[in-house]
Amino acid sequence: MKNIPVVMIIFGGSGDLAHRKLYPALFNLYEQGLIHDNFAVIGTARRPWSHDYLRQQVVDAVHETHNEVDENSLKNFASHFYYQSHDVTNVEHYETLKNLAQELDDRYSAQGNRLFYMAMAPRFFGTIATHINDQKLTGSGFNRIVVEKPFGRDLKSAEELNKQITASFKEDEIFRIDHYLGKEMIQNILPLRFTNPLIKNIWNSDNIKNIQVTLAERLGVEARGEYYETSGALRDMVQNHIFQIITLLAMPEPKAIDAESIHQAKQELLDSLVIPTPEDVKKHFVRGQYAGSDTTFAYRKEPKVDENSTTETFVAGETKFKKGPVKDVPIYFRTGKEFKEKKNRIDIVLKHANTPYGGVHSNNITIEIDPQSKLYITINGKKIDTDGIRRENLTYAFSKEEMAKVPDGYERLLHDVFVNDSTNFTHWAELKRYWEFIDAVEDAWKKENEAGNPDIVQYPPYRMGPKEADRIFESPTGHWIYE
Ligand code: BG6
Repeated sequence: MKNIPVVMIIFGGSGDLAHRKLYPALFNLYEQGLIHDNFAVIGTARRPWSHDYLRQQVVDAVHETHNEVDENSLKNFASHFYYQSHDVTNVEHYETLKNLAQELDDRYSAQGNRLFYMAMAPRFFGTIATHINDQKLTGSGFNRIVVEKPFGRDLKSAEELNKQITASFKEDEIFRIDHYLGKEMIQNILPLRFTNPLIKNIWNSDNIKNIQVTLAERLGVEARGEYYETSGALRDMVQNHIFQIITLLAMPEPKAIDAESIHQAKQELLDSLVIPTPEDVKKHFVRGQYAGSDTTFAYRKEPKVDENSTTETFVAGETKFKKGPVKDVPIYFRTGKEFKEKKNRIDIVLKHANTPYGGVHSNNITIEIDPQSKLYITINGKKIDTDGIRRENLTYAFSKEEMAKVPDGYERLLHDVFVNDSTNFTHWAELKRYWEFIDAVEDAWKKENEAGNPDIVQYPPYRMGPKEADRIFESPTGHWIYE
């Protein structure tokens, strides 16, 4: 693998994301030789850490995620890390950062290449972007920026942030990261759809009755009440992860497997996204909050959560497209905290076969994303000793050994940033459409809230979310496959 020269600046270097995900992923890329002799990482944050303290954090982070490590290699890796205490609102600090980056560039022959990573509280993204620009932090080689979610909190703020970032970076230098796009089974959606005639030929409105995407979590909001109150499930999970999945499920076949063709196909689809009216929201969306139990907190009792909060910890809804292979097919989604289990899955529900046989189930195609990676197709066959029809699963699953080899999403996506492959990142035009949809739903909810009758249901923890979500289907026989 290529040894890419670069000085990387992580805003939020003392944070949880850097510790849990970025440092272990960078170590793996270092071990593979993608970054090696000619790189330096500057971790910046408010805390007054020293270089040595950061290096120790990096070593700890790698130990926490790896069973075995070559300690010498880890020590060398950590020696490339530098800490710069930084107040993101203080202009002078950018000057110091710029000088340190230049010094490290000279020391490691990084050829003027700069990679900026925004891994801190999103409310600072705009300020950082503005100062990268006015203090001219970009280098003389390549310049790239990775931006964590959420990218804005509605279309207007996303546009503002985009303006601040594009003052220093061109669209193809901006990597809006969505860790779901680094997941194995999500990266598998296009190969599954387009390399199997069995699947490819039935993937259309003639054969698909509906599509269902479920991202269910066992955990509650934990210590993230403050952030979550400004977000809710719709912004936290639908605006990004669910929409990315839906786009991959509904887009037309790209002309080639490269970033440009894939984004083109996505855009073609998204131009035909149906934006819901307030009536659609009333009929086809449900929002809820976990209600707590004798032993667990209700969402409204969580730390830093308003006791009259109308922030949803569950949402179910419907999307549709006016174009593409699944034109007009209802695509239902739901996501929530405090479900009975962690389960990320997609169910493609096929229409019933037109057949003289009675009692035949529809065939479904299920893609499980987490915690297992597998795909199965339900098929009908003859019962052995009667004339009846029975249903079996044809399963394509990864073995434990294979799963152990699957790189973490962040490792994959960071690798892509280093090699300048934006296939699995969100382009601005896509993001804009997602926000248009989300804003329409948020506006309808806001009006309900203002009228004093927010239709937000309370649901029992550790089950399947609110039962009201069963009523969003267009067909009277529609139901969730995963229940
Ligand atoms: C994050 C959300 O983007 O995704 C979290 O902010 C959520 O609220 C997480 O818990 C889920 O990711 P995963 O990979 O565990 O399914």
